[in-house]
Amino acid sequence: MNEYYFNSLTLAWTLFAIALIPIQIKVTAPYGRHMRSNWGLSIGNRLGWTIMEVVSLLVFSFFFLRGEGIKSTGSWILFSLWAAHYVHRSLIFPWRTRTRGKMIPLFIVFSAVFFNSINGFLNGFYLGEWQGAPIDPGHPRFIAGLLIFIFGAALNLYSDTILLHLRKPGETGYKIPQNSLFRFVSCPNLLGEIIEWTGFALMAWNPAALSFAVWTAANLIPRALSHHRWYKEQFPEYPVERKAVIPFCFVKSEG
Ligand SMILES: NC(=O)c1ccc[n+]([C@@H]2O[C@H](COP(=O)([O-])OP(=O)(O)OC[C@H]3O[C@@H](n4cnc5c(N)ncnc54)[C@H](OP(=O)(O)O)[C@@H]3O)[C@@H](O)[C@H]2O)c1
Repeated sequence: MNEYYFNSLTLAWTLFAIALIPIQIKVTAPYGRHMRSNWGLSIGNRLGWTIMEVVSLLVFSFFFLRGEGIKSTGSWILFSLWAAHYVHRSLIFPWRTRTRGKMIPLFIVFSAVFFNSINGFLNGFYLGEWQGAPIDPGHPRFIAGLLIFIFGAALNLYSDTILLHLRKPGETGYKIPQNSLFRFVSCPNLLGEIIEWTGFALMAWNPAALSFAVWTAANLIPRALSHHRWYKEQFPEYPVERKAVIPFCFVKSEG
């Protein structure tokens, strides 16, 4: 594939993510609290998460490692961050959830496998094959991106951990999270993920990483809005000042 086709594919894929935003706002993906039984066959939630997310790890690693582009220290740092995130997301996070007995539709699993394959391919291929110059890990943009990535990942992990501990072993219901950034937004875990991949895009500074940051935001902002709406419907006492995903702005609880 030449660079023109690769960049055209990346641009088309990014525009597709943006085009899907209105659909994602209207139709909430049916898993977790939004699970609905009318979406066909389903499998166990934990297994579904592992299948969906391990694809990102495998596809990215395959194309990065077999590519013949320049692999400098900066490239290896980016590879390590991607791999660490997806080892956690696919092999650790699902088995920390207290969702025993919950299901996820196969349609969601296959859709995520498709999206994650393309994103893994674009990013692994660009970094492994097209990276024409060494990535300088001492460059201010790289360092700023790394700090943003670390902050986002920490926020994501910390907030997910708070959520996972809301349930005692054996419980499956929902409670209002109260601590930390949950005082300001309903979904600091999703905000952390968006910040994380924005930092990655800054570090990598290529169209594929920018595309993935757009994909993440296009996917998670509608999901955060759905979560926020759901909290307000389920809990009449839900804090009115809390926003959906961006502190102090975006969607108001009473709006
Ligand atoms: N990069 C991407 O595009 C992408 C896409 C999707 C997800 N993710 C990441 O994957 C992770 C999970 O996403 P998610 O949408 O499933 O997050 P979530 O709805 O916030 O759920 C996270 C976990 O906490 C539990 N939980 C959430 N709120 C709870 C509450 N109020 N009371 C009790 N338990 C609660 C959930 O149980 P239930 O499952 O039973 O609801 C689930 O096990 C996040 O870190 C997110 O950033 C990334």
